[in-house]
Amino acid sequence: MEMEKLVALCKRRGFLFQSSEIYGGLQGFWDYGPLGVELKRNVREAWWHDMVTSQNELEVPEGAPSTFEMTGLDCTIIMHPQVWKCSGHYDLFHDYMIDCRETKSRYRYDQVQGRWAEAKGQRIFVATGFVGDEALEHTQQKALKFFKLRAKQADRLEWDGPLVSLTTIDDFSNVLGPDTKKLGTLTAPREFNLMFKTIVGALGSEDDTAYLRPETAQGIFVNFKNVLDSTRVRLPLGIAQIGKSFRNEITPRNFTFRSREFEQMEIEFFCHPDQSADWYKYWRDRRYKWYLDLGLAADKLILREHTPEELAHYSLGTADIEYAFPFMAEGEFGELEGVSHRGDFDLRSHIEGKLVREGDELVVEKNEKGKPKHRGSGKDLAYFDDLTKQRYVPHVIEPSAGADRATLAFLCEAYTEDEVPDDKGKLSSRVYMKFHPRLAPIKAAVFPLVKKDGMPEVAKEIYGAIKPHFAAFYDEKGAVGRRYRRQDEIGTPFCITVDGQTLEDGTVTFRDRDTLEQWRVKKEDCVEELRKRLMV
Ligand code: GAP
Repeated sequence: MEMEKLVALCKRRGFLFQSSEIYGGLQGFWDYGPLGVELKRNVREAWWHDMVTSQNELEVPEGAPSTFEMTGLDCTIIMHPQVWKCSGHYDLFHDYMIDCRETKSRYRYDQVQGRWAEAKGQRIFVATGFVGDEALEHTQQKALKFFKLRAKQADRLEWDGPLVSLTTIDDFSNVLGPDTKKLGTLTAPREFNLMFKTIVGALGSEDDTAYLRPETAQGIFVNFKNVLDSTRVRLPLGIAQIGKSFRNEITPRNFTFRSREFEQMEIEFFCHPDQSADWYKYWRDRRYKWYLDLGLAADKLILREHTPEELAHYSLGTADIEYAFPFMAEGEFGELEGVSHRGDFDLRSHIEGKLVREGDELVVEKNEKGKPKHRGSGKDLAYFDDLTKQRYVPHVIEPSAGADRATLAFLCEAYTEDEVPDDKGKLSSRVYMKFHPRLAPIKAAVFPLVKKDGMPEVAKEIYGAIKPHFAAFYDEKGAVGRRYRRQDEIGTPFCITVDGQTLEDGTVTFRDRDTLEQWRVKKEDCVEELRKRLMV
């Protein structure tokens, strides 16, 4: 599937718009249109229902080490700045960027690739911001131009090795930057903190600096004690939160995949340290299956366990759930969700202060005066188990998903082209969105076949009966074939048509979006029929 087609459909049919488009847009910010808002809401609601409200704490779910409880929170976007100091975000949440002195373009260091080329006795590293085949093509064009060769002289270029990351290069003097014709224009990499700063209150001094949260997780850690003290929950316990997060990404790209404002769906699962390895496996596998159950194809979805070198210093295991987005190079996958075994790092950080690794130990980082660099709250965030009489700082398993990335993956997966017979039985091409019924923004469309003979009246009555239960759409304009196609294009699973036979026997035509199968249902049974077919 070509990404441009999906982007065009999203704009044409009101799924996604560029933010502030009438002023030229703002890079890395996206608005959800009338259909997009329903789709994303359905993603969030499926997650909340499946992870939180449907959790039965009295039974052991399949694959789980024991029973467990789930509950939710909704914390503020702006929190006490000390939260980010103790969590490590203030010191460490950065990417490296490089600038081009010539073009003034800015790149994320680890996203620039290139390959070594030699011609006319000179060896240079040709850099590009593209990936896969496009990167090969781009570096070839740039190298030909640099060495003043024509396309038919391409065999005079000698390529030394495959595409490699710019991070493998120490000396940039022989690097041809992604958008320039000269060598050595790239600056050395510099750290760039991704947190958006803001000022709280009217005085506006540096002391009033606060940050827009870059993740929802910290709100859960700092409220752990509040949840325990205000409810009768017991561990193992998952606390869930859905909400906006903000990251000043250096190079937002690939539609909503890397945005500067986005929504996360995070669970912090607190458990006994002795059981945390089993809980990690449980959540990793359960979260992977969730995407499959909602329609992502198994051959496009992988569960990738991090290598020891990739793990954060506190992590005892991390697996990414990754999807083969159409904008990725062949064989590459983009992260949808990370499931991480974080040990007791987060709660200890908020008790003691920012932690660093020393050998096998996590210890409080000290400043030059030997005092904690970022002091913790000093509050007791340990859990007391009144059955075992044990007190301990729980371990945390964190399944952390992106609502926008999941929505984008469901959009990519749903986009389908096929050929179907038109009104006259002639095959014609059609585009349809094969959303899982739970995610489809509109569940049913109701049409009168023609705008006369009392058909609109019956159709409006059916529409009125469906509306309180399911998102539905009424349409009486144009040829019925065109109306079907418009619904297919937005992924409506069922169309219900009132026709001549309805007036005779009180039945309507139900039509399935994917199979085009049609069958008749009594008009008063439409809601029940939808209920049966949508609850798959
Ligand atoms: N608390 C852990 C955490 O935030 P993360 O891997 O940085 O982990 C979790 O983010 C998820 O949030 C990602 O898997 C992704 O789905 C989503 N996400 C992160 N950055 C994003 C961005 N710039 N745009 C859209 N989604 C993003």
